[in-house]
Amino acid sequence: MTPRPTGLSQDGDERHSHGPAGARHRIELCRDTSCQAMGGDRLADHVRKKLGCEFHAHSRDGVFVLQPVDCLGLCTRSPGMLIDGIPYGQLTPRRFDKILDYIRKASV
Ligand code: FES
Repeated sequence: MTPRPTGLSQDGDERHSHGPAGARHRIELCRDTSCQAMGGDRLADHVRKKLGCEFHAHSRDGVFVLQPVDCLGLCTRSPGMLIDGIPYGQLTPRRFDKILDYIRKASV
């Protein structure tokens, strides 16, 4: 798959200028084709449950904001996401939890 230009969420908004403000960390979870084919829906369900929020909202604890985005150019490592602009690939629910725990501990 040829990645589309990044910078737009699924609803066409520019990623860094819209969405809830005030969270300490921004999670941009890819919802595009390659990531979906590699378990993206299951991962998205897990992420929403773990954070206690839907897309375009703050996590239950207010620390994270969760945004759906189109292809991040990480297709060969899908499913992928950015947290504060840092790319993470080959995500599984378990790997997501480990990354989240690390970020929580690092930002205390
Ligand atoms: S489809 Fe390319 S990074 Fe998700």
